[in-house]
Amino acid sequence: MAKDLPDKVTKTQAAIRPAKSGDFEELLALVEAYYKFDSIAFDERGTAAALRRLLRDKSLGRAWVIDAGHALAGYAILTFNYDLEFGGVEGILTDMFVAARFRRKQFGAQLIGAVRDFCEAAGINTMELQVTRSNWGARLFYKALGFNESNRIVLSLEIARSSSARLPFKEPKS
Ligand SMILES: CC(C)(COP(=O)(O)OP(=O)(O)OC[C@H]1O[C@@H](n2cnc3c(N)ncnc32)[C@H](O)[C@@H]1OP(=O)(O)O)[C@@H](O)C(=O)NCCC(=O)NCCS
Repeated sequence: MAKDLPDKVTKTQAAIRPAKSGDFEELLALVEAYYKFDSIAFDERGTAAALRRLLRDKSLGRAWVIDAGHALAGYAILTFNYDLEFGGVEGILTDMFVAARFRRKQFGAQLIGAVRDFCEAAGINTMELQVTRSNWGARLFYKALGFNESNRIVLSLEIARSSSARLPFKEPKS
């Protein structure tokens, strides 16, 4: 689990910065906490491998953390998707989490600000994300930051679970 954080950390003492490989253990603990919050099954081995790869391979996306000095207080992950509708690469915000006792201190807004700045600099003009309908806190948070809810629904199809999957660049054999 994430290391205990002093309760009195303020936003001036915490910094938003890109995640680095040395953050791996703490970041994985935050991912686990987020999955628990959002009722997403946590497969430690598979998630750890995917996180390691994300931190290593910048073609997949980026991660940011809230560095509270003694420990990490939250994180965000943006991955890349290619969609003609958005003129090419769009950003998918796959993960967004602020540890419970650090909420409502503008850390979440600062994380989104860092992701936005990155997108602007990278020429990515749209960011999308999924949020559970009943997660009103997050829906209000995104609304406050200018996100619009769309009239589309999300569908998914499980193809195969394989820890050795090399997507997105594995070419099928013809
Ligand atoms: C959603 C979440 C990331 C917000 O982070 P945060 O650091 O608390 O948000 P901020 O302090 O930056 O909030 C910015 C603004 O968003 C709005 N907001 C944030 N949380 C809100 C809530 N629970 N209810 C209503 N409005 C909220 C407010 O307008 C807030 O400004 P204010 O505090 O001055 O009123 C955080 O609550 C969280 O990690 N939740 C659990 C995980 C989660 O739901 N992730 C999103 C999955 S899609």
